[in-house]
Amino acid sequence: MNTHWLSSLVMLHHLAMSGVDLSKATDWLHVINDLSSLVQLHLSYCKLSHIHPHVPSLNLTSLSLLDLSLNSFDSSMPPWIFSLTSLLSLDLNGCFLSVPSAHSFRNLTDLEFLDLDGSNFMNSSLVLKELSSSNLISLDIGSCGVSSLDLDSLHNLTNLLSLGLSSNELTKRIPKSLGNLCNLKEIDLSFNNFGNISLTYLLESFFECKSSALESLSFSFSGVSGHLPDQLGQLSNLVHLLLSDNYITGTIPHSIGQLSFLRTLDLSVNQMCGSIPFSIGRLSLLEVLDLGLNQLNGSLSEWIGGLSSLKKLYLSHNRLDGNLPDRLGQLTKLVSLDISFNLFTGVVTEAHFTNLVSLNSL
Ligand SMILES: *[C@@H]1O[C@H](CO)[C@@H](O)[C@H](O)[C@H]1NC(C)=O
Ligand SMILES: *[C@@H]1O[C@H](CO)[C@@H](O)[C@H](O)[C@H]1NC(C)=O
Ligand SMILES: *[C@@H]1O[C@H](CO)[C@@H](O)[C@H](O)[C@H]1NC(C)=O
Ligand SMILES: *[C@@H]1O[C@H](CO)[C@@H](O)[C@H](O)[C@H]1NC(C)=O
Ligand SMILES: *[C@@H]1O[C@H](CO)[C@@H](O)[C@H](O)[C@H]1NC(C)=O
Ligand SMILES: *[C@@H]1O[C@H](CO)[C@@H](O)[C@H](O)[C@H]1NC(C)=O
Repeated sequence: MNTHWLSSLVMLHHLAMSGVDLSKATDWLHVINDLSSLVQLHLSYCKLSHIHPHVPSLNLTSLSLLDLSLNSFDSSMPPWIFSLTSLLSLDLNGCFLSVPSAHSFRNLTDLEFLDLDGSNFMNSSLVLKELSSSNLISLDIGSCGVSSLDLDSLHNLTNLLSLGLSSNELTKRIPKSLGNLCNLKEIDLSFNNFGNISLTYLLESFFECKSSALESLSFSFSGVSGHLPDQLGQLSNLVHLLLSDNYITGTIPHSIGQLSFLRTLDLSVNQMCGSIPFSIGRLSLLEVLDLGLNQLNGSLSEWIGGLSSLKKLYLSHNRLDGNLPDRLGQLTKLVSLDISFNLFTGVVTEAHFTNLVSLNSL
């Protein structure tokens, strides 16, 4: 009902109340403003709707983490947030805040983690230019109306390890000038519209790295076309590769077998053909393999047994053939299997597996 009971806890350093319904505690900020020792404040998904645009003076001079994500404020980002100069981590994901353009982030010089997913930038290029002088390690600006041109302002973010750019208006490849591209570990480019630009071209900047640190790459639902380039094998630190729902054609390159840390490979809903290279069987850490809805042919028997960590295998709607049951039974960790709409012989039943929860072998 209210947060008044907090006001006497003046020594409090960490307050974690994420998920608690605070919709009736409309004066939450005034109470919390008295807790001047606070270092971390977690109020994600608290049904807060009032962000208090005007607070005369803020006492939260030690606050290093503020998480207000998943509260739908639907207003302007209040000035008091920009005066929290000790902040290292700010999460405003899903708050639907409008971010003003002028000098907003300039004073948050220590910020390392910033999530603005779902914000409305009053002027993308100005906001990103300001962020450029920070020391960000992780930046999520998904669903912020960012265009390819705006990305040039991020070239000074040389500490960046994680960049979220999904659901924006990107149409060109990621500029080589962006931060220290070769040190980037995660990039999410899904739900953009690269308008049938080829994957080889889009990834060129990464292939030019002497060694790329990239661990997670997502281009799902992005209108990407062309082949999977053979240079893919150079991205040897990849753990998650997500390329579903595009217009990718051609075969899966043999070099896929070089990605020995891969745990998720999703190439579903594309137009890939030919047989699956046996080198894929070297991916002994692979947990999720989704190749559904392509035009792949040939048999699995040469390589499937090597995928000893596999938990989810989705191969439906292809032209795969051969006799199934024997080798599939070696996948003892499998929990979900869909091999429907192929040309397999032999009948697969739950009896072949120890942990299977979901099976579609039509
Ligand atoms: C916090 O700031 C308010 C003014 O906004 C002030 O009245 C109050 O005394 C301060 N509290 C502490 C604990 O410093
Ligand atoms: C940034 O700090 C300066 C100097 O303390 C102050 O004048 C200015 O209002 C601050 N800007 C914001 C957006 O808080
Ligand atoms: C956004 O800022 C840039 C300057 O970086 C300016 O040229 C442009 O006109 C601004 N756009 C809007 C819509 O205000
Ligand atoms: C990037 O860094 C250079 C060199 O330190 C500086 O001159 C430039 O103003 C910076 N650009 C931005 C957008 O902060
Ligand atoms: C991309 O190519 C596909 C298939 O060739 C076509 O259906 C789609 O309309 C194209 N998209 C664009 C943005 O050109
Ligand atoms: C798979 O399809 C390709 C044409 O896309 C064909 O050349 C090849 O012989 C087929 N392979 C098998 C094993 O059926």
